[in-house]
Amino acid sequence: MASTREWFESVAEAQRRARKRLPKSVYLALVAGSEQGVTLEDNVQAFREIGFRPHIADLPRHREQATSVLGQEIAFPVVISPTGVQAVSPEGEVAVARAAAAAGTAMSLSSFASRSVEDVVAANPVTFFQTYWVGGRDRILQRAERARAAGAKALIVTLDWTFATRRDWGSPPIPERLDVRALLRFAPEGLVRPRYLLEWARHRALPDLTTPNMAAPGEDAPTFFGAYGEWMQTPLPTWDDIAWLREQWGGPFAVKGIMHPDDARRAVDAGATAVSVSNHGGNNLDGTPASIRALPAVVDAVGEQVEVLLDGGVRRGSDVVKALALGARAVLIGRAYLWGMAANGEAGVANVLQILRSGIDETLLGLGRASVHDLRPEDLIVPPDFTRSPQK
Ligand SMILES: Cc1cc2nc3c(=O)[nH]c(=O)nc-3n(C[C@H](O)[C@H](O)[C@H](O)COP(=O)(O)O)c2cc1C
Repeated sequence: MASTREWFESVAEAQRRARKRLPKSVYLALVAGSEQGVTLEDNVQAFREIGFRPHIADLPRHREQATSVLGQEIAFPVVISPTGVQAVSPEGEVAVARAAAAAGTAMSLSSFASRSVEDVVAANPVTFFQTYWVGGRDRILQRAERARAAGAKALIVTLDWTFATRRDWGSPPIPERLDVRALLRFAPEGLVRPRYLLEWARHRALPDLTTPNMAAPGEDAPTFFGAYGEWMQTPLPTWDDIAWLREQWGGPFAVKGIMHPDDARRAVDAGATAVSVSNHGGNNLDGTPASIRALPAVVDAVGEQVEVLLDGGVRRGSDVVKALALGARAVLIGRAYLWGMAANGEAGVANVLQILRSGIDETLLGLGRASVHDLRPEDLIVPPDFTRSPQK
């Protein structure tokens, strides 16, 4: 269906609309990517290098997409990836959670989000809570227990962040809080994006730069930089810490940020139920290959023991099918839904999920596969040096 004012037909179009509607700093915060953006670009580029081997007759009349992730049934193999401090639209993570629930899929909520885990679980009962290793064992467990009490169905621990965030195109400034000084500073950017301002005005709100899910019981929500400061002072986690957290949590548990099969094995030894092959959307060490290049080696290493998920660079249904054919159980999306929300709020997130779902269906049809569970590497044409495995 061709794009209209209320509907965009591709994630690329959602991104174009996001660029037009968001103040420059907010848009740049979402583009993100560290240093030269080599990994950021490769995440998308690598999907282009994979081809398909279609069939043309005896095609399946109906195609099945339902699957399960971390113990939860989902209608199609795409899950919302956690993203912190969105400032994209007033309802933020609650709108994303609602759109995901309506589409029949799961929400992952960042511990650096600006909406509380209680509000988000109320909007989508299938919510996974994501944490970084911030504040040491007791503090992390307190936050996880709060998420569990709110009804979160799984814990995701993200380990791939080494603070190498310098960007060649410049990192946008994030104010500590939106006081009069900060408002004056950002006013020129806002004035040329009146629709963005109007939306916040309609909700009588300002972008929220606090992180309510980082507060211990009885504490005020810290600002983004308050939480970041606590992180900087926390000793880096060991695999023993991760095994301890997994034990304390007891339920479905994912380790996000795996690029190396050895780390995948360590995550399995620590008791993980899932790993997400991910390079943080190109926000960690620049020069790391695309996550889809790392997927086959991780599937070989642990695919029989845990659910293998993938995130990074997914922009179309055919990307999802490629990841599944290489052994992923499902994918997570980050920027795709952020662009959708920037373009058209909750309806824009729903729009993106619909694009991906239709794209998966069309690709299954073209490949002659009746179900996402039938996809195989033989459905793809993968160039010989695609995985860029280390020289032996
Ligand atoms: C603006 C932004 C904020 C993010 N914040 C988090 C976060 O708080 N926790 C986390 O685990 N990953 C975070 N990520 C990484 C995403 O969960 C995901 O790994 C990545 O966006 C996938 O790549 P894609 O954007 O190409 O889909 C963030 C990514 C972006 C772009």
